[in-house]
Order: sequence, then structure tokens, then C-alpha cells
Amino acid sequence: MHTVSALPGNTYAAAAAPAPRFDIYVFIHKALREFMHHTVAAVGAMDVDDAGERADVCDQVELLLATLRGHVQHENDFIHTAIEARRAGGAAETAGDHVEHLEAIANLEDETHALRCAAPAQRTMLALRLYRHLAAFVGENLLHMQVEETRNNASLWALYRDDELVELHGRLMATIPPQEMAMTVRWLAVALSVPELAILFADLRAKAPPPAVEALLGVVREQVSAPRWARLAQAIGRQP
Ligand SMILES: [Fe+2]
Repeated sequence: MHTVSALPGNTYAAAAAPAPRFDIYVFIHKALREFMHHTVAAVGAMDVDDAGERADVCDQVELLLATLRGHVQHENDFIHTAIEARRAGGAAETAGDHVEHLEAIANLEDETHALRCAAPAQRTMLALRLYRHLAAFVGENLLHMQVEETRNNASLWALYRDDELVELHGRLMATIPPQEMAMTVRWLAVALSVPELAILFADLRAKAPPPAVEALLGVVREQVSAPRWARLAQAIGRQP
């Protein structure tokens, strides 16, 4: 369990300094923070007796939990494996967190299922239980991601050159199926700055066929305001 005062990199100077090296975590973690915040808010705002809204929110919670389980797997398989390959025990702290996260995810899935199927008299209580437990889980995740972005990045930067980290990231990205990529881009669209989105799409253009990139740009367009879309189109040299 992390506490804010014990977090690494917990100074304004560290927060304000530009990342000097390739940051394998920053984009996906921004997307996950956005997805988590949005989902906690949706659970809190749900009218439990509106069957359509209850089903939609339960669907969103389940999608978030499945996404977070997949994210843990990606980090275990690629990032932790890379750290451990050159520094035994170097990923132990966040690997231990991941074990706890998978347990919490299973419990939250049970709570979501209970809410989805609940009798009318139980719905309010079950929704509030899920809201509080999901919020606490998100809190733990936020602190965990801070450790990854500071301590684990420090390990990666000490152990690998940037070209090796870019190659590692590319191998991880290559395992993500198109549907999952579209879901991730839906959250990246609102979580990243326009210059970051331009970097993301330059990378995607280098790796994916034009129709696939166009489809992902369509996902972005659905999520962002007209001015934001226009700035992105300009940044990537495309007609708005
Ligand atoms: Fe993690």
C-alpha cells in the first residue's frame, strides 16, 4: 500500500522537469487515469432504477476492469520482464502490487455482477458499495502508477538505451488487437495533449496501414471538440 508522502518523485521540481528519456508509461497511463476517473464518476451519477443506465454503467465498469487486467499482463510480460532481465528483483515492488490489483479486480467484477442482477431494494446499497470500492481501487492505482513512472522508469533508463525501449514498446503494441486499440484511442483522445496526440499518430502512421489510422482518427474525432480536432488535424498535416 502506497502513501502520498512516501511517493518517489513527489516534488514540484521533479513534476515540472521534462522527461529526458523515452517514457514507456506516460501515454497509456494518462488514458487509464481518464478511463478510471470517468468510470468512478459514472457509477456515482447512476440512477440505479434506470435499467438502461444501470446496464450501461455496469458494462463500462466491466470494460475498465478487463482493460486494467490486460494492462497488468502487458506490464508483467514486457516491462517487468525487461527490468528483471538486467536487474533481478528490480520490478518486485510493482509486481507485488499487480498481484493485489488482480485480486481487487476480481472482487470488483463480483460486485458489478451483483449490482447488475440486484433486486430493487438492494440496488442503492450495492451501487454505493461499488462506488466506494472502485474509488479506493483507483486511488491505489494512481499511487502505483506514480511508482512505475518514477522508480521503474529510473530502472529502465539505467538498464536500457532509448532505442531498446522504443523497440520494447513496439513489441508490446504489436500484441494489441485493433478493437482494443480503438478503445484505448477513445481515452487517449481526451487524455493526451494535442502535441502528444500528434506524436501518437505519427507513430501509428509508421506502423499501421492508412485505413486503420483513418479509423482511429475517426475515434478521436468523435471524442474531441471541433477546435481540438482542428488543431490536431493541423499538427498531423491533415485536412480538418
Ligand atoms: Fe502497473
